[in-house]
Amino acid sequence: MENNMSKEHYNNWPNDKGFDPEYEQRKPVELSVVGQIPAYAAGILYRTGPGKSRVEAENGETLRLSHWFDGFGQTHRFQILAPDASHTSPRVFYNSRFSTDDLIEEARKTGSLDMINFGQKRDPCKAILGKVQSEYVPQPTPSSRNISVTLSINVPGLDPKPESTSRWSDSTGIRTLYAKTDYNAFKKLDPETLEPIGLASQTTLHPELSGQLSASHARSDPVTGDMFNFNLTLGPTCTYRVFAVSASTGETTILATFPATPAYIHSLLITENHVLLCVWNSHINPQRLNSSFLDSVMPTDPSQPAVWYVIDRKHGKGLIATYESPAFSCFHTVNAWLEPSKENPAEMDIVADIVRTDSSEYLQSLYYENLISSLDTAKAFQKSRNDSFRTSFTRFRLPAVPSTPCTDPKKATVEWSVCKSLSPELPTMHPKRVTQKHRYVYAVTFRGEATLTDGIMKLDCDTQQVQLWACHGQSPGEAIFVPNPEGTSEDDGVLLSVILDGMRGKSYLLCLDARNLSELGRANVDGAIGFGFHGQHVPTVGGMPTGETNISILLATMQPSLDPTTYVFLTTKSPLHSLPLSTLQPRLIVQEEEGTTIVTTEALATSHGFNDQTFPCKKISLTIHSSLEAVGLIAAITNRLKDHGISTNVVSGYFHDHIYVPVSRADDAMRVLEEVAAEARG
Ligand SMILES: [Fe+2]
Repeated sequence: MENNMSKEHYNNWPNDKGFDPEYEQRKPVELSVVGQIPAYAAGILYRTGPGKSRVEAENGETLRLSHWFDGFGQTHRFQILAPDASHTSPRVFYNSRFSTDDLIEEARKTGSLDMINFGQKRDPCKAILGKVQSEYVPQPTPSSRNISVTLSINVPGLDPKPESTSRWSDSTGIRTLYAKTDYNAFKKLDPETLEPIGLASQTTLHPELSGQLSASHARSDPVTGDMFNFNLTLGPTCTYRVFAVSASTGETTILATFPATPAYIHSLLITENHVLLCVWNSHINPQRLNSSFLDSVMPTDPSQPAVWYVIDRKHGKGLIATYESPAFSCFHTVNAWLEPSKENPAEMDIVADIVRTDSSEYLQSLYYENLISSLDTAKAFQKSRNDSFRTSFTRFRLPAVPSTPCTDPKKATVEWSVCKSLSPELPTMHPKRVTQKHRYVYAVTFRGEATLTDGIMKLDCDTQQVQLWACHGQSPGEAIFVPNPEGTSEDDGVLLSVILDGMRGKSYLLCLDARNLSELGRANVDGAIGFGFHGQHVPTVGGMPTGETNISILLATMQPSLDPTTYVFLTTKSPLHSLPLSTLQPRLIVQEEEGTTIVTTEALATSHGFNDQTFPCKKISLTIHSSLEAVGLIAAITNRLKDHGISTNVVSGYFHDHIYVPVSRADDAMRVLEEVAAEARG
């Protein structure tokens, strides 16, 4: 590498030190803080990603990794302490740990990088299949596996028994920390020292989850903490298994199993009711897995559609729909939610925001030779870089999601695609807006000013206005949004990003006001932190849901809504086809051997001459963020109503649960439900 290096950096924007950092800080040190970091940002910020990229071998050779995604992992921990009696402003402590010491030692001794396999060039590589299978070689050590793409706190299903961890400080609510990647493996880290302490696979969650691939970005319900992901088995027939892990019980449920084209899928989406898995056009040829994994990712074929799989996550209906859209590739999804169809408000559309590229070839741009600012190869690559490597924020619409399984593929459409000149990546947003319509999304930019990142941007999805933070020579990492718990606007909060100051060769934690991207403060690190991928901020107060109080959380967030209409139950022995259903507008039809039960409004029942009306009632609809506990939850609610002498008739629709209560007790029922919610809120 030295032979190819010069003192000149691409666009005078140095970033070399972010690709091969030597700096490790095992014991926490206090950082010097300039400016002000708001007290509500107090908590733990974890970061992970590639660290070192070369090894000095015993044989005297310098071994160099080829692809950024293969970089030897490193984990970082920023602890932000709120002001107290002795300190008027927040303090920041930092510690870090390389997480693949044994893997590096193996390379040092053998002089080989055969075990490296995402995009490693030249060396004869093992396939990713071999890597996964090698998990079962006797005695793999946690630090012999390079798993360092995303981090998750308190992963449900992996640690049913909480552990005590409070050696250095009170890490409120954090019991366990796991690193994840795009194959079927987890690495357990000590939440404070960051020492690798264990390995696990998805078969720990469920024996059927034995396929090789998965997504680094599992999705978690922002209220329940339930986790959703897929497991992909490669073989003559490639099979996706979409699954859910309950945060309250730790139990894993396979939501759907279906064959589909194998693809490199790094992230997925959820709505309140669905898991949304898009098999975009980063298709894999399993026959080519005998070289590096990247060699198996095929160029995007524009003639092949991207296929969106919609899986029910609440009522056990499995795969309910597929949608097709023109070919694209993607790395990071942003968010998805349900909203009434414009054409027919009685139907619901899924809206899905992602960061889109035209082609899977963007993975080629992430070889070190194309990224390190001092390399002539990187300078040449940047000058020849074309639009096919650029990303854009893109909004898709999947119209009229069926409530029962539908086999005919439907069409997904693109609503808009913006910001290609900024080439955004590593998107983040308000964590509580997941599954709801969001307005703001944040990202780092790849404008072309640097060989890697060159700014932090904010997109207002409603107005499509953009704001940009950029400072020459300052290379930012993923900007994590931390909301102000007392804020009223969606962008009231801060962005925390680790920046490499290329001129000084050192990093700092930058704190931006998310409303206008102005700097509030920074904490200076005494070394260069490697360009990482992802992280997670856990606030000291109001952290991630753990599932321990799952039912309480669900009850606390329950929003009962009383329909003022009076409904009645009718029974008839007339065959269904003979009934005036179009004008009777039944809300519910139940067919039994003895006859048919219909629920409709009292007014319509009377106007149609039905005199045999029973149970005049009001309908209370419940909006509950429940995925797997709905049955137990409804039982808890109806038992409470029963305690107050209120009879109920419960109906679960696809989108909501409804309770029919006697007209005379409707107000009482609402009062009881609001009491239950208030008690749960404490
Ligand atoms: Fe990612």
